[in-house]
Amino acid sequence: MTILALALHILSAVLWVGGMLFAHQVLRPSASPLEAAVRLPLWARVFARFLPMVMLAVVLLLVTGYAMVFLVFGGFGGLPLYVDLMQAIGIIMMMIFLHLFFAPWKRFRRAVAAGDLAAAGRDIEQIRMLVGVNLVLGLAVVVIAATGRYW
Ligand code: HEM
Repeated sequence: MTILALALHILSAVLWVGGMLFAHQVLRPSASPLEAAVRLPLWARVFARFLPMVMLAVVLLLVTGYAMVFLVFGGFGGLPLYVDLMQAIGIIMMMIFLHLFFAPWKRFRRAVAAGDLAAAGRDIEQIRMLVGVNLVLGLAVVVIAATGRYW
């Protein structure tokens, strides 16, 4: 049970953090020379696929993370510092993601569908900024989580 929880937990983290790294550091600079009329609908299609996967990853991280709090550590008393840090930073990341999903992404989708490229350009800029913050936090959490047992 613990191994299954840990496997799903790690796969969810890889999907979320790796996906953000690819979007932010690979796809964004590669797509930037495209005309806005092509680039913004492309991002709408990219995020329409990626964001539901992240939503699933968030649910799995929470369920498996708290399952392991009980299975591995016997509850919240005496959790090691690295698990407390993972939980705290993880929840901040999830709040940023939920904001992104329900505010700029919703607006961006609507603006692209309506052909309002100026508004969509402003929304994608906000999404880029939020993904950048979550990417840095996500990389930090992965390092903290995986090295924590040694400090
Ligand atoms: C928000 C609630 C979260 C909780 C309660 C939680 C809890 C846990 C627990 C209990 C473990 C097992 C630690 C051990 O056995 O030493 C673990 C492992 C791990 N967590 Fe989380 N976690 C959360 C979020 C996250 C997030 C957001 C990420 C990354 C984006 C993440 C990445 C990892 C990784 C990579 C490991 C594997 C560490 C290893 O065994 O090498 N966790 N988590």
